[in-house]
Amino acid sequence: MLHRRTLIAWPALAALAWASSVRTGPQASSMKAVRFHEFGKAEVLRVEDVPKPVAGHGEVLVRVHAAGVNPVDWKVRAGQLKALNPTLPQITGFDIAGVVESTGPEVERFELGDEVYAFLALERGGGYAEYALVPATELALKPKRLDFTRSAAVPLAALTAWQALFDNAGLSQGQTLLVHGAAGGVGHFAVQLAKAKGARVIATASERNHAFLKQLGADQVIDYTTQRFEELARDVDVVLDSIGGDTLERSYGVVKQGGFVVSIVARPDAAKLSARGLRGAVIRVKPDAKQLAQIAAWIDAGRLAPDVSAVLPLAEVRKAHELSEAGHTRGKLVLQVRP
Ligand SMILES: NC(=O)c1ccc[n+]([C@@H]2O[C@H](COP(=O)([O-])OP(=O)(O)OC[C@H]3O[C@@H](n4cnc5c(N)ncnc54)[C@H](OP(=O)(O)O)[C@@H]3O)[C@@H](O)[C@H]2O)c1
Repeated sequence: MLHRRTLIAWPALAALAWASSVRTGPQASSMKAVRFHEFGKAEVLRVEDVPKPVAGHGEVLVRVHAAGVNPVDWKVRAGQLKALNPTLPQITGFDIAGVVESTGPEVERFELGDEVYAFLALERGGGYAEYALVPATELALKPKRLDFTRSAAVPLAALTAWQALFDNAGLSQGQTLLVHGAAGGVGHFAVQLAKAKGARVIATASERNHAFLKQLGADQVIDYTTQRFEELARDVDVVLDSIGGDTLERSYGVVKQGGFVVSIVARPDAAKLSARGLRGAVIRVKPDAKQLAQIAAWIDAGRLAPDVSAVLPLAEVRKAHELSEAGHTRGKLVLQVRP
């Protein structure tokens, strides 16, 4: 790790300061990245040579080792999330783990060589690439006990589960949580976070994932393909919904009065909530470096771990998207950007 160089005052000597205060590693002007130029199926993804970004004010350039794959990646690619105003061509991908390559002016918290991870804001993306820009305020040191590949599986999904359960639903010790989609990226973190908090966990998944969920700590597992969860789940304080539709509809009835329905895919019906004395919210995950640091601490303390079901090289990005789109990923998929 290199030592921090003394920063020249900013903005007093603006032009000179810019050149002097940008701390850099080895130079190269281009990089490989996965972009799409039009919305569509996985075929629109292309591995291309693009200019290597330069860290601006408050930004860190990360040499990416691995990039996590999330359903939002293919939803943006397919044109399903135009509300995010994606600009074309776009480098897709929102989860990265890697090493600090250079820092822009006024970045104090990171050193060249730091091993870091981040969730890149949905409006920007840029993760499936050899280098990615991250605002320093959204970057954290990666968990020490995980390699880059497993670290890249964490940010978006773990932050979503954290924000849904703790910031919104206020899940606390002794409460009961029903997690839909429990074997997926968000769900498998939610099960572990809730158990670490001292909650009781009921999880829905197909039968092939039941042993996996019990291993993660789930107290009760329900096979949504053959059983009706509303006939089996009792005394539920919080529902985490990652499925929507009929699953969300049938969830209101299982929650105790005063309980909370938090969905990450659809807005809970206000009239149905209030008729039963429930609270609820739909949330969109936000980058949060402090929470990422806390999550890393929980991982290093052995309270939480990502499960990575497949690692694919960047060149197989189309296959990675197709796997995610099939809707039955166990844990996480990760793209290996560097060996
Ligand atoms: N609002 C936000 O900020 C936010 C953040 C993250 C994710 N999301 C969204 O939330 C959803 C889940 O994300 P994710 O990353 O967890 O997805 P994922 O990893 O692709 O989830 C796959 C899992 O869903 C399970 N599943 C499929 N249908 C199910 C059903 N009817 N009931 C119970 N489980 C079912 C599958 O289990 P089986 O194989 O056993 O069927 C599989 O393990 C996606 O739509 C994603 O876009 C939103």
